[in-house]
Amino acid sequence: MNKLYFTICTLAACTTTQSSLAEDFSNTIKQRQQTFKAIEAFIDDFEKPISNIEWEIINKKISELAKLTHQLPELFPPGSSEDSKSKEKIWDSKQDFNHRLAELNNAFNNMQQASLEKKWQLLTENYKIAKNSCNSCHRKYRSLW
Ligand code: HEC
Repeated sequence: MNKLYFTICTLAACTTTQSSLAEDFSNTIKQRQQTFKAIEAFIDDFEKPISNIEWEIINKKISELAKLTHQLPELFPPGSSEDSKSKEKIWDSKQDFNHRLAELNNAFNNMQQASLEKKWQLLTENYKIAKNSCNSCHRKYRSLW
């Protein structure tokens, strides 16, 4: 009898711990998804100012992007894949994953510098790098459902 009680108790504790963990991550998951959505919106908004060479607008947008990507690494705590589109393998390859995030951040920083110095080629090259990084990371680390 005692043993049974203990088992039920343990199971209950286990369930509680798991659900509270999931709750803990839900805000973080929401935050990273919103950050990516904002990044996507910024990226889409870029086509026009870039082809019109509107340096001031470009510079403003870029500084927002650099800020957003800077926050991303800490929005992927271990164990936070459940109920999100992040694949488990992110945490098996955290170094590669963080490296990709850093590359994206780096591309935005270069674009920011390019917009300050009005360097067209540096801007477009890094815009291309940033855009390519999206799909290449999604193919590996983002699930479709
Ligand atoms: C280092 C990897 C990586 C890079 C680089 C990356 N993403 Fe993502 N992205 C992810 C992962 C992982 C998710 C899934 C997030 C989740 O649901 O937990 C995601 C999700 C998204 C989402 C969906 C958010 C939602 O609510 O479902 C959008 C939109 C997005 N990314 C856009 C972009 C764009 C645009 C870029 C490039 C400028 C980009 N991402 C670069 C890894 C990356």
